[in-house]
Amino acid sequence: MKPDTFTLGQNRQISIGGVTLAYLAEKYGTPLYVLDYETIVRRIRDYKDALNELCSPGQAFYAGKAFLCQAMAGLLDQHQMGLDVVSGGELYTALQAGFTPERIMFHGNVKTREEIAYALTAQVGHIVCDSMDELERIEEEAARLGCLAPVLLRITPGIEAHTHEFIRTGQFDSKFGFGLADGLADRAVERALDLEHVMLKGLHAHIGSQILEEDPFVMNTETLLRYGLDWNRSRGWWPEVLNIGGGFGIRYQPGDHPPRLTTVVSAINELLLHLTPKELPVPRIFMEPGRSIIAEAGVTLYRVLVKKSVPGGKHYLAVDGGMGDNIRPALYQAEYRAAIDGKVDRADMETVTVAGRYCETGDVLMKDITLPVAAVGDLLVVFDTGAYNYSMASNYNRVPRPAVVLVHQGQDYLWVARESYQDLIRADNPYAMTAAEHR
Ligand code: LLP
Repeated sequence: MKPDTFTLGQNRQISIGGVTLAYLAEKYGTPLYVLDYETIVRRIRDYKDALNELCSPGQAFYAGKAFLCQAMAGLLDQHQMGLDVVSGGELYTALQAGFTPERIMFHGNVKTREEIAYALTAQVGHIVCDSMDELERIEEEAARLGCLAPVLLRITPGIEAHTHEFIRTGQFDSKFGFGLADGLADRAVERALDLEHVMLKGLHAHIGSQILEEDPFVMNTETLLRYGLDWNRSRGWWPEVLNIGGGFGIRYQPGDHPPRLTTVVSAINELLLHLTPKELPVPRIFMEPGRSIIAEAGVTLYRVLVKKSVPGGKHYLAVDGGMGDNIRPALYQAEYRAAIDGKVDRADMETVTVAGRYCETGDVLMKDITLPVAAVGDLLVVFDTGAYNYSMASNYNRVPRPAVVLVHQGQDYLWVARESYQDLIRADNPYAMTAAEHR
């Protein structure tokens, strides 16, 4: 879709958060990531309101992998959101921003010993354990530090959500978590219950990303709940928490129909009421939305720098960014919608392929998209780029990463500065080889 505050002004100029995109492009340069405060905060509220309706109020943990910087962590903390981090780097970003450690969920299928120790020392609220090796590593580090590690076990429930193959993680042969079918999950629970410094708080399962159906989320919850019941019968253990992961899809294209959060949550509530034995507390439901919080809040601004028609009738618009700031079209054949600022709803249209500036044939942002006839110098606005764009950006071709600007009520706030050429060489050690040669 578009940011909630999208408006068209005189001369068909687009504004977001009360600021014209033309002004932002002029002030900060292009390419530029723009994020709308209002959209982010509304999505956060949607999750909070929905999860508060549960008979045992749930908690949302924003998935930092979708987009994270210190200001974002600060905003989330202000709104009492939880935060799912998957690396020491994401954890560091959050802690530096003063994020409440208790509301941090530490994830990742490969956590180093140092990262585990870092998370334990920081006293994060939960660590999601992904493998037997890691379970032992968590026990050892917790013993060394003299603490109890609050652990959720990541289960692979075997639910196949209809989404792009690369981002489907719930299937049995996934590299993530403990398989239910092959008995690995049983062994993990058994072992976790025996470990002295591991406090087994619950179960986790994430079944994929950009899921456009409602049922898989409910099935996932039911699978975890029933698995908890098995353990309650066999060993008297009962999960305090069921973390059902992220994955709510958004409307990238007009044909995409995202699942309704309130529908999913009320179905989950029914399950909880129906399946939880009377004598046991209802488990708390945790969710980890990334894309559905931040994707629609973001747009990317590019300057059209080249128009080129090639034999065979293909027309290219080439812009000053591309796969370095948005790898998703090249990696997942992701499709985006776009507009030409100042020309929205104009009648003269053309079908073009929007190419990026990177030295790869595959660096194409949009194939055969119909847009108003653009001229060199126009501003191309790509929608729904808030998630997995900045966070997956690279310095390929030694192109500095764009700035991130937040807009709200007519004001703009620089969240992340554009990288400079100096930033690109900051970690270089230019004389290392020269010194060796002269030894
Ligand atoms: N929790 C876990 C354990 C995850 O692995 C993920 C995403 C999320 C939560 C958040 O999922 P979301 O609500 O954002 O769908 N780079 C890919 C997406 C990879 C998602 C990986 N895991 C893309 O650009 O589409």
